[in-house]
Amino acid sequence: MGTGGFMAAGMLMPMVRFAIDPILKTEAASDMVDIDMKVDDITTEPQMKKFKVHQVDGWYESDVEQAAFVFKNDKGDIVALSPVCKHLGCTVDWGTNPAYPDEFFCPCHAGRYYKDGVNVEGTPPLAPLDVYEMDIKDGKVFLGKPMPHPKA
Ligand code: FES
Repeated sequence: MGTGGFMAAGMLMPMVRFAIDPILKTEAASDMVDIDMKVDDITTEPQMKKFKVHQVDGWYESDVEQAAFVFKNDKGDIVALSPVCKHLGCTVDWGTNPAYPDEFFCPCHAGRYYKDGVNVEGTPPLAPLDVYEMDIKDGKVFLGKPMPHPKA
């Protein structure tokens, strides 16, 4: 890029930033969602919690239903796992397979995950369940986006 191009890019950047800023702001505002769950109500048993996320996609706004399995792990930390199976996207359930009562089970192709969300080797899923970003405020749980599991 010549000097002219470099200068043009420099002049363009502030304008681009200005143009996309409102979209970024809207996303940031809806980042963490109150899922109407108190920390005191969370046990070591994963509970399925459904909640709505307000999404803005250009001019189109919608409320999208999402779900999380929320529980305390062995260390007492609160965990929120996405129930979306990493094989083909079915919804996993907790403890529904009598042979594996302490695991997440996907009924579509018998996918299995340990309680920490890690996929059981030899079953169809090739990655652990996603983990939600989380914030605890005033004794309540707020969730953000599902992110790749730290053990992925
Ligand atoms: S979609 Fe879950 S095992 Fe296939």
